[in-house]
Amino acid sequence: MAHALREHIADALARKRAIGHFNISTVDALWGVFRAARELRAPVIIGLSEGERSFFGVRQAAAVVASIREEYDYPIFLNADHSYSVEKVEEAARAGFDAVIFDGAKLSLDENIAATKRAVELARRANPAVLVEGELGFIGESSKLLDVLPAGVEVNAEHLTKPEELARFVHETGVDLVAPAVGNLHGMLRGGANPRLDIERIGALRAAAGIPLVLHGGSGIADKDVSRAVSAGIAIVHVNTELRVAYRTALALSLQENPDEIAPYKLLRPAAQALERVVAEKLRLFWA
Ligand code: G3H
Ligand code: ZN
Repeated sequence: MAHALREHIADALARKRAIGHFNISTVDALWGVFRAARELRAPVIIGLSEGERSFFGVRQAAAVVASIREEYDYPIFLNADHSYSVEKVEEAARAGFDAVIFDGAKLSLDENIAATKRAVELARRANPAVLVEGELGFIGESSKLLDVLPAGVEVNAEHLTKPEELARFVHETGVDLVAPAVGNLHGMLRGGANPRLDIERIGALRAAAGIPLVLHGGSGIADKDVSRAVSAGIAIVHVNTELRVAYRTALALSLQENPDEIAPYKLLRPAAQALERVVAEKLRLFWA
């Protein structure tokens, strides 16, 4: 199959699987994601938020992912995760990202539609092949460990994305992909499982949207809920917090156990390997 993200998403939906989207900040983590995906022969999306992009470099992330795709002839793709301005969307589209996200989830429905529509126009003008994702339903903004639900997030039926609003959002913005609120949230509750997903709502949203749905906030959700969500029509699952926890824990141990080691590539290796193990576990869930 050609290495075009749109085709891989259609293939995943037809096979009732989901493509894993994993956030990274550094090149060792990017290699960790790639190794896990290649081992399982799964297509994979590398995601960088605005903060992660500013640390890695926008054009540099595009160059590294393109070089791996070419060298290994492998379906590895790049997404500009959660962009809060149309300028950031345009910048990533121009740099050659395969997909970009305009995140207007905090805005009112009308404002979100207007801003996302503009982002779609500018992204396509910068790169006609880019896929644009919109967000409808606020699920919080940070991939971190949480003591309570993020401010502004409620996971009851009334606050989840509504099928009729999603249909309007998709129709008026022209997005290629859309991420709803279905009980999911960004980040992971400390010491406990995140709330349950509303699988029935996912099915209704999938029918209303008519385009592929993306599940954000993939950390901390019960495995069986993720599997059911994929069966109900989720095409891409985003994971970040669990990778960050694994990376940080392994890095702390590596520093503690090797007080005289000063070579970064030796100190960092266990961190990327720990992240790789989490990616492999998640891919067995989404892509099996
Ligand atoms: O876009 C990134 C994801 O939605 C990550 O969510 O940190 O809860 O896994 P997470
Ligand atoms: Zn997200």
